[in-house]
Amino acid sequence: MNVLRFDSEPAWVHAICSLWRDRLRGTPALKMCLPSGKTPVAIYAEMAQSVGARLVSFSRAQVFALDEFGGVSADDPGSTRQMLKQQLVDHVDLPANAFHCLDPDASDISRECADYEAAIADGFDLMLLGIGTNGHLGMNEPGSPVESTTRRVDLHESTIQASARYFTHGKLPRWGLTVGLKNVLDSKEVWVLANGANKAEIVERTVRGEITPGNPASLLRTHANCWIVVDAGAGSRL
Ligand code: PGA
Repeated sequence: MNVLRFDSEPAWVHAICSLWRDRLRGTPALKMCLPSGKTPVAIYAEMAQSVGARLVSFSRAQVFALDEFGGVSADDPGSTRQMLKQQLVDHVDLPANAFHCLDPDASDISRECADYEAAIADGFDLMLLGIGTNGHLGMNEPGSPVESTTRRVDLHESTIQASARYFTHGKLPRWGLTVGLKNVLDSKEVWVLANGANKAEIVERTVRGEITPGNPASLLRTHANCWIVVDAGAGSRL
């Protein structure tokens, strides 16, 4: 796992976007898996600007949502689908049929997950991930199997409480659908993004602590092409 550390949050955003533009230019049909959450908000805003300025294009790319909350409506602004749409997808030239999301309202969840796996096919070229303060990746909570693929999961209590920052109502989701740790570990390139001092402890544990399913992010130390990209706050204990 390579560590990239930046002195300020703007520098962290610009560097990630610069690398991302580079990957898209090198591989226009880049197959990406993207997270929602607070971490990538400014990154998505700069990428949307970059597309508006014709510096880069998503016209041949594919975007897969990393996960989705169960029990919230598909148009809830706190859902992964809506966050990705509002922050990125609606502002770039990605074709509608190249935006893939998980539907937790599907009548057959196993089928929904199997169809997602079929669409993912031979894996992602690039995966962007946030990191939970408990080390979760997507909704792969501590203890998730290394061989896991897209599936329904129960959320840990800390994740449920943390999700309150995405929802304006108090009906917090207790489960979700997520791509699995196998999908993460099979991705050709993985960037774990972390900003802010509240991520400093988990970043330190991920980079320096034990490699264990108890901290899913630490498993990425076994990945040949993984970067953890931190700002000064998130990297303050390294
Ligand atoms: P955040 O979420 O980007 O909102 O901090 C990250 C996560 O919990 O995976």
